[in-house]
Amino acid sequence: MSKRRPFVAGNWKMNTDRASALRLALDVADGLGDAGAQVDTAVCPPFVYLDAVGRALAAAQTHLSLGAQDVYCERDGAFTGEVSIAMLKDLACAYVLTGHSERRHVIGESDHLIARKTSSVLEAGLSCILCVGETIEQRQAGQTDAVNQRQVSSGLEGLNPEWLGRLTIAYEPVWAIGTGVTATPADAQDAHLKIRAIVERLFGQKAAEAMRILYGGSVKPSNAVELFAQPDIDGGLIGGASLNASDFLAIIRAASS
Ligand code: PGA
Repeated sequence: MSKRRPFVAGNWKMNTDRASALRLALDVADGLGDAGAQVDTAVCPPFVYLDAVGRALAAAQTHLSLGAQDVYCERDGAFTGEVSIAMLKDLACAYVLTGHSERRHVIGESDHLIARKTSSVLEAGLSCILCVGETIEQRQAGQTDAVNQRQVSSGLEGLNPEWLGRLTIAYEPVWAIGTGVTATPADAQDAHLKIRAIVERLFGQKAAEAMRILYGGSVKPSNAVELFAQPDIDGGLIGGASLNASDFLAIIRAASS
């Protein structure tokens, strides 16, 4: 296990409804037990359920934090359909995902927009999980390292070093997301080590050693222990398995062991 405090976040994507979102959040909160004190944990429900889930978590007095799946970087104004950082703060959101592969590849967000979102979230005092990772075509073309290099350096460019304590990077190879295919622990470790080296080049050794780098892509209770045992894997960003409270809790416990 790494030297850093482990972190496991659940990305619910466009799933759940009001009732199932509340039930899932409370089931996770109830089941956290001792692991809740050893692992930082968060769930990222759809925007429209953030308020209800946030209130339920506050009433439950749990360690489980609230995160948003995305945000827009402008303060306010004519941005139809978007959600601002101030709105997320209003709902006691602690974390925001930026650059998730579905935002990059399905919605079409650019490195530039993702960098603006990342710096705006951090500047506003929230914590950010910046997601990076290569597609299958990029991997087959031997471009994995180059893609990670580009996405990490563009996402971190110009950040105030004082904000870095609130930044987490999630390495999520796109071909592993929602496919049931996971990167081998050795391949994931290799990518994480290289990402940490990019952070070191940009911000120095201390910042690189402190930076939490999560793995994401078909993490399940059956593979979490081995992935989290790698020295540069500091936890996970969990999609499908976070929709099932007992699977998500098993993954959290794997990070605490
Ligand atoms: P998955 O998704 O765990 O369903 O592969 C991970 C993610 O997209 O964050």
